[in-house]
Amino acid sequence: MKYKLLLIGSVVAIGTMALLAQNINEREAERVALASSPEIAQDVKHKSSEWARYYPRQYSSWKKTKESSEIIDMLDEKPQLSVLWAGYGFAKDYNAPRGHYYALQDNVNTLRTGAPTDAKTGPMPTACWTCKSPDVPRIQERDGELEYFTGKWAKYGHEIVNSIGCASCHDNKTAALQVRVPHLDRGLKAAGLPTFAESTHQEKRNLVCAQCHVEYYFKKEKWTDKDGNEKVAKVVTLPWANGLTAEGAEKYYNDVGHTDFVHKISGTPILKTQHPGYELFKTGIHGQKGVSCADCHMPYTQEGSVKYSDHQLQNPLNTMDRSCMPCHRQDEKTLEEIVHRKFERKEQLHELAMDNLAKAHLETAKAMEAGATDEELKPVRDEIRSGQWNWDYAVASHPAFFHAPEETLRLLAIANDKAQKARILLVGILATHGVMNFAAPDFSTKENAQKLAGVPLEKLVAAKQQFKATLEKEWYKIAEQNGDLDKENRKDVDLESSYFNNRK
Ligand code: HEC
Ligand code: HEC
Ligand code: HEC
Ligand code: HEC
Repeated sequence: MKYKLLLIGSVVAIGTMALLAQNINEREAERVALASSPEIAQDVKHKSSEWARYYPRQYSSWKKTKESSEIIDMLDEKPQLSVLWAGYGFAKDYNAPRGHYYALQDNVNTLRTGAPTDAKTGPMPTACWTCKSPDVPRIQERDGELEYFTGKWAKYGHEIVNSIGCASCHDNKTAALQVRVPHLDRGLKAAGLPTFAESTHQEKRNLVCAQCHVEYYFKKEKWTDKDGNEKVAKVVTLPWANGLTAEGAEKYYNDVGHTDFVHKISGTPILKTQHPGYELFKTGIHGQKGVSCADCHMPYTQEGSVKYSDHQLQNPLNTMDRSCMPCHRQDEKTLEEIVHRKFERKEQLHELAMDNLAKAHLETAKAMEAGATDEELKPVRDEIRSGQWNWDYAVASHPAFFHAPEETLRLLAIANDKAQKARILLVGILATHGVMNFAAPDFSTKENAQKLAGVPLEKLVAAKQQFKATLEKEWYKIAEQNGDLDKENRKDVDLESSYFNNRK
């Protein structure tokens, strides 16, 4: 009896151990499978759906960027903008950012990219695709960076067809973070900072975003292709040689004599800021304390025993429990109210700066009309150029009021000061030419402001609709035939003209 029990006991024990061992083996196999991440084939990696079967959670959360679909017409919200950008594409059309899912299509739809009729018509250069798609590094690697940066935007319409996706930030062999465009490392080197490869892991969680969320300009570069043809490339370049500050970039542009456009109303040579989101973020308390973009915008999420990064890049106030609460003790409501107060403080100085700058442009036009010379207006235009740069730098990447509140308010204060100085000078110049008590015309609606800026809106929309009905349809068809289009991920992106009708 004793031995029987012992035997049974042993059998049970051995069985249990075998089961346990099997379980451990299975888990080990799973661990190995997860650790040795599968390779996504080189020729399909630009299509995010190819990554889905290995990384279902990252894929499905990435796809949810589709949920941030609202189009907010900033020219309607802030009519001063059309006056400030008179003579430049942004006066035609400018919306608040929305989900990465739409980045590519929004670039195709915006009136700024115009209505080309073939691969060689403008107005924009190829560089305008650069922060929209993983097809960009694919083409840069295939054709060479300088060839990619040569020619008009429409040259690549049939090839750049997938919005920001896995291959924009990840290596296809290891899924490790990767920077796919060479201009960022060149910028970091110019600033004397570590390159992507030399940076810490935490900094890499910023730098993948800095591929796009940075200030840049298109630097003209002459080059000769392999057949001996002389070409001019317009290369995305970060103005970081004097550091990552507004003053550093302004000095850089002044030193190289760069101007984005000559203002149509005031004749001022203007610098248009892009979106120095990374640079400004680094000056704020979170940037200083080593918090990274991904900490707030891609919070870790637990699903059963699996922890992953939420790839639904969005406003982190929608995910405060995961984005803020791991570090903060205040309750969500209090913290949100603090953020909102920061927004209101910025808005106040932002509105003042826009009004002052817009009036300075219009008063300059009046002085020109009254006979003021370029020489007389030089000091005025210098103040306007610098003031507008400081204003734009502070607000162009919308969330800087939160990422870097002190720096944002400092730049807006400088912008206001410079705009006021220009206006005081203008009072004197106008008086010299016999103009007293001039009041700038009304620009309180988008319609009025665009009229002052000379924007023929209806004509531009009609041309765009024509482009969408013809060339864009051809691009789509060719991309589909070539097998480069990730069709699943181009659904519901305003392929039709609804873009112009469903705005808020
Ligand atoms: C390849 C370029 C690119 C990269 C890389 C990139 N972004 Fe963006 N991002 C954009 C563009 C372009 C938009 C605007 C899209 C639109 O409005 O159609 C945008 C929009 C956003 C928005 C607004 C989303 C919304 O719903 O309003 C957030 C937030 C954002 N990006 C955060 C990030 C963060 C954080 C990273 C890094 C983890 C990052 N982005 C990396 C280009 C990029
Ligand atoms: C805008 C840049 C960006 C894009 C686009 C992006 N990722 Fe990520 N991904 C990140 C960052 C940042 C992390 C955090 C990495 C870390 O801390 O090591 C990450 C983490 C990951 C990880 C590691 C596990 C985890 O969840 O933290 C995987 C796997 C991954 N991403 C897959 C994908 C896939 C698949 C896609 C496309 C559907 C994608 N990513 C799109 C930036 C991006
Ligand atoms: C400490 C948390 C935090 C970090 C870190 C952070 N952000 Fe944000 N970000 C926010 C919050 C909060 C907002 C929304 C503010 C608002 O508009 O209410 C925001 C908004 C944005 C937006 C605009 C979204 C929109 O629709 O207007 C972009 C783009 C963005 N962040 C990019 C970045 C990038 C790039 C980095 C890193 C360089 C970064 N953020 C780092 C918290 C953070
Ligand atoms: C990884 C940690 C971390 C995360 C995540 C984080 N914070 Fe912070 N936050 C900090 C630190 C550290 C400070 C500096 C406070 C200090 O040192 O006393 C700070 C400061 C702040 C401040 C005060 C600074 C100022 O500019 O007035 C606010 C407001 C704030 N955080 C809001 C948020 C919000 C909102 C989120 C989520 C969207 C968030 N934080 C996410 C770590 C974090």
